[in-house]
This record gives sequence, structure tokens and C-alpha cells, in this order.
Amino acid sequence: MKKRTLIALALIALFPPLVFGATPEADSSRAPSHLRPSNIESFMWGVAYYPDHGEILTLDLDADRMKAAGMNTVRMAEFAWDLMEPQEGKFDFSLFDETIARLGAKGIRSILCTPTAAPPRWLTVKHPEILRVDSQGVVMSHGSRQHASTCNEVFREYSRRITRAMAEHYRDNPHVIGWQTDNEFHCHFSQDYSSGAEKQWVVFLKEKFRDDIGALNRAWGTAFWAQSYTKFEDVPLPAAKRPTHLNPAHHLDYFRFLSWSVARFQRDQVEILRATQPKWWITHNGLFDYIDYRGQFGQDLDTLGYDVYPNFTYDDKLRASHQAWALDAARAWTGNFWIPEHQSGPGGQTDYMHDNPEPGELRRMLYSSLAHGADSVLLFRWRTARFGAEEYWCGVLDHDNVPRRRYEEVAKTGAELSRVGPALLGTHVAIDVGIAATDFNNTHAHETLSFKTPSTDLVAADLHRNFWNAGYSVGVVHPGDVLDGLKLYVVPNFTLIDPAWVPKLEAWVRAGGVLVLGARSGTKDMDNNVVTDLLPGVLRPLVGATVVEYGRQNIPDARPLEMEIGGKSVLSREWYEQLEPDAGAEIWSRWTTRHQAGSGAATIRKVGKGSVLYVGTYLNGAVGKAIVPELVRLAQLAPLLPGVPQGVEIVRRESKDKTLWFVINQTDESRLLKVPAGRDLVSGQDVADELKLPGRGVAVIQAKRP
Ligand code: GAL
Repeated sequence: MKKRTLIALALIALFPPLVFGATPEADSSRAPSHLRPSNIESFMWGVAYYPDHGEILTLDLDADRMKAAGMNTVRMAEFAWDLMEPQEGKFDFSLFDETIARLGAKGIRSILCTPTAAPPRWLTVKHPEILRVDSQGVVMSHGSRQHASTCNEVFREYSRRITRAMAEHYRDNPHVIGWQTDNEFHCHFSQDYSSGAEKQWVVFLKEKFRDDIGALNRAWGTAFWAQSYTKFEDVPLPAAKRPTHLNPAHHLDYFRFLSWSVARFQRDQVEILRATQPKWWITHNGLFDYIDYRGQFGQDLDTLGYDVYPNFTYDDKLRASHQAWALDAARAWTGNFWIPEHQSGPGGQTDYMHDNPEPGELRRMLYSSLAHGADSVLLFRWRTARFGAEEYWCGVLDHDNVPRRRYEEVAKTGAELSRVGPALLGTHVAIDVGIAATDFNNTHAHETLSFKTPSTDLVAADLHRNFWNAGYSVGVVHPGDVLDGLKLYVVPNFTLIDPAWVPKLEAWVRAGGVLVLGARSGTKDMDNNVVTDLLPGVLRPLVGATVVEYGRQNIPDARPLEMEIGGKSVLSREWYEQLEPDAGAEIWSRWTTRHQAGSGAATIRKVGKGSVLYVGTYLNGAVGKAIVPELVRLAQLAPLLPGVPQGVEIVRRESKDKTLWFVINQTDESRLLKVPAGRDLVSGQDVADELKLPGRGVAVIQAKRP
């Protein structure tokens, strides 16, 4: 056996590689679901690390400080293509070889990234055609990032080459445990009107319409405004405001194309990585627009990553609820996720700088992230860069490398995570209330014809906040997901209802669920054209009522339309529908004003053991606030724990054999509450049934009984 192999084997024995469970391909039980635990079997805690920004100079000190903070993993190299391939075809991985080896020798494993978010200058000089172009025809330039088109065939070829070179170089490195593809696809730029995009668009359309241009013409209704096409090559990329309103069907297919093409670009890399070393774990850090993470893109990964920066919410009173919503939405895509980048200090770029987290805030945020479905966390970043666009994106350490209170807080949290982290793995977040969101078609169809009404995600977020503030266990669930375990499911205002969802919704209602649907549900088909059926379209048999009139409310205060909810008259601000129940349904609420006074505003139908409520307006704002207590009554919901004081968040993660209660004090003052008896994994102490938490204090109680 060669000496190198012997050393490698000895190192593996010393530091067993992080273990990951079966990959999605190998295990069909791993279909995307909000209830799916990740396949991470060994908790990762660490940082994004940049030897390329000079951290190599303090590597040993850094590694010692990381170890002292309990860390075991770093992520590297996502913007270092120019260093690793300084000239075309000449590779130099020495900087990362040394970093990986020296960190590995101290027990810190590495996740590498394909560096395609920032191609080197020699490449854009040689092939300027790979640059992205925006909808106004402006060509992107070198000097920031994400300036190359992931649709471009030349760029795809260079992406495959650097991926292959890196993969082959690190195939047998025992410290390299996995890969992140690229970096935050679509973070700054998602639209693409380059010549590469034009070419791929034709490929996409031919695939989608099986080479039948007639099928495209029918699906898009191209008879309108002389749009009919005779060949795919003639179909333009739809560009808004050039000059005016677009065809919604054409437009939604363009958004689907963006998702399809980025998934293909990623797949090139995933195929090379998996073929080179099947043991590697593969991830990506999202979450951004125009990517369907439930689709091919997410299914190609082992675990989806979500980068968490709660301080983008400047109002600290809203920060925790926004964070809870964003995390729940992240989990809805494919299940438990991990966090490749987590806020660790105030972030700053050209025209903004976050609040510096006050003492205890980082730790609080970290526990919220874990509570809502994260199975591992890396902080962004280790030390603040001294140069570049993010020279004030503050990491765990300041520019001067002096460990101060942020490091102390991270180290304290790290010690706790040695108990909490392993206990989380294999558990899922248990919820009673599901709000539908994160559906690619509905999110983006809204953009194609919004009438300036709130988006589906905005309404869902508003409702989520109302349930969250009242202490109910609420999450986000896609209508294609399993609904088992939910007591209440709200699909706010999905215009596109996939007919395949309807029998499942009905079966769940029959078994006792309460389903709530908002205005405009089911008004469109999957091509994004209006249906000719009576409304609410495919949902009408289940709802048992018909929408006979509808309208937009542009200045609702001038011509107020109010509906009765819980004995009060509540102003509807966005949209009204007049409902007439069919046999078997009854009016649940009536309009109280103007020409609609006395007509149906909401209907209810009993179906099996459950019921279906259809509300003829948007479920946000005053309507959302007023309706939540009514829905609580209808679905007989109880808060997760009784008597929890305002400002304390409770989340339950569980598996067959364990229950973990996250208790997170979001306020600055101490709080006393009754909790289930068990062991608090944060303090390592037993808790009888009462817990006193200081301001921003946290506990994770492993209950005595599952
Ligand atoms: C993320 C990105 C990182 C860094 C960080 C702070 O969006 O992935 O590369 O830019 O934000 O801005």
C-alpha cells in the first residue's frame, strides 16, 4: 500500500468522516416533505472560512479557536476559481490542500464549493458571450459576482471542467466530506436574456411541448395579440415593459424555464461529484426566486441548505416572527435543511448595515433556526474581510482578530450544541396548523398578473404570524405534501390548483381536517389561463359553493365592503366575492355593506368528519386577524403549551422515541413558565415542571416521556 494511502487510512481511523444517511435516490421514503428529517447523521457546527482572504496566515490559531468553540466543519472555496485555475487549464489547489490538511489534523472537516458564482477574468475576456444580459439588454460585467449565464453552453463546459478538476483532486482526501454547488443561485440575478438563454429556451420549449408548436400555441392562447408561432426558434423570451403587458402563460413558462435551466447547470456538477466520489454529501445554499426547490433542483441534492440572516429585518420586535416564517417556509420545500451560512455579526454591503446583534441575540437566533428544522449550522463568516464588497460583513471575529463578545457567545453556544446537536438529528418539527406556500407555480403566476394584490407568500406569512403570535404550532406545508397530523390547513389564495391535489385534500378533510380556502382559488389552469368552469373551478365540488360575482377593491375606505367575522363587521381591503352555496353547504359569513349587504362572503361545507371553509376575500390584514380565533375554534386547536407568557416561543421537534421542547425567550426580560419535565440539553440540568429563563434565554427540554 502506498504511503499516502496509509496516512489517509490512519486519518480516517482518527477522525471518522461525518456520516450521512442514504441519498434520496437510494431511499424512496425520502420524498420531499416538511416532515422529512435530513440525512445528516453527525451534527455539523462551524464557519465559512476564507484562506483565500488571508486567513491562511492565522490558520493554526484559527483552528484552535474553532475547536475551543466546539466546531467541527468549515465550508470553503466558493469564490476562489481565479486562484485555483489562474490560467486556463493550469490548476493550483495548494492553498486549499494546505488549509484542508491543517484543519483536518485538528479534527475540522471541510465542505468544498464549486466556484462558479465568480468566474475568473481570463474566462470572461476570452468568452464575453457568457455574460448575463438583463431584460433591458444590459450586459453584466466583471467586478462583482453572478455575472455569467448558467444557460450558456460555453460556461457550462467550463463549469464542468473546474468541477471535474476539483473533484478528481480531492477524491481521496479524507477531510473533504461534501460539496456545495455554486453559491446562492439567483441571489442577485435570476432573469436571463443572453444569447445562451435564447438558445436554451428553445430546447426547453421543445422538450415541454414535445416538439409540437401547435401545442404551445394552444397552451398559451397565442391567438391573442397576434402571437401565434410557426416554429420554436421564433418564440421570444418574454420581457416586461418592452413595450407593455405580457401573456401570463408565456411569462410563467419563462419563469419555469429559469428554474429548469439552473437545475440543469447544477446537475452537471452533481453528476461529476457523485461519479467521482459516491460518498460525498451534496448541498446548495438557497433560497431565492425562480427555483423550484421541490423539483429537480432539490431532488438532486442530499440536503437543501438555507442561508439565515434574520437581521435583514430591522425592527427587532418583528425579527423572531419573520425568522420563524422564513425557516418554516424553508422546511416546506424538502424537509429539514441545514444552514451553510448563519448570521454571526452585523452584515454590511454598499448601502446598508445591519444592527449589531446585542448580547444573547445570536444565540437566540441560532436556537430558533434549530427549532424550526435546521439539522446543522455554519456561521458566516469566521473573520471579517478587510477588503472587497463585504469588508463590513462582520463575522465571528473582527478585522483585528481579537476574540470579543461575539466569539464568547459562539463558544458558549458551541459547548451547548455538543449536547443539543446530536439529539436533533432524526426528529421533525410537529405542527397542528399548515399554511400553504412555497408553490413555484402560484408564487410566480402571481407576478404575471398580480393586479397589485398581495402575493400568496405575503398572505401566508401574515397568517403564519397571527398563529405564531398566539402560540399555536404553525408551519408551512405545500399542497402536494402529506397532510397527516395537521388539524387545520389554510390555502390562502392559490389561483392555480393542480387537480391532482384535490382528492388528497378531500380525503384529509373526510378524516377530520379543517380546510380553509381564500378568494380566487382554482381560477386558473396549470398553463396559467383562466378556467371556463364555474368558480372555484376544480375545487367547486369540494367547496360546495359558486362564486357568482367578484371584484377588486382599489380604495376600500371609499367604498367599504365589510363581512361579519366572529360577530364583528370587518373591512375587506383587496377583493370581494359573492358566494352562493350549492346543496350541502351553508353561508358562514355575509357581507354587511353596500350592494353586497346580505350576500354570502364565506361558505362552509361538512365533508365526512371535517369541513371546508371558503372565504371570498384575501386572508391577510384585518380579515386574517379576525379570522384566526374563529379557525382556532373550528379546528379545536390548543396552544402548544398552556399559559406560555407573551414573547416566549415554543417549538416541538419529535421522532418515534423522543420529544424535544424548544423554549425561546424572545424578550429582554426574564420569563417564568410551566414546561414538560425532562432534561434541558442547553444547561445539561434536569427541569421539573417550571422554568425561569433570563431575557433571550433558551432551553431545549428532552421530555422524560416521548
Ligand atoms: C450570502 C452569500 C455570501 C455572502 C453573505 C453575506 O448571501 O452567500 O457569499 O455574500 O451573503 O452577504
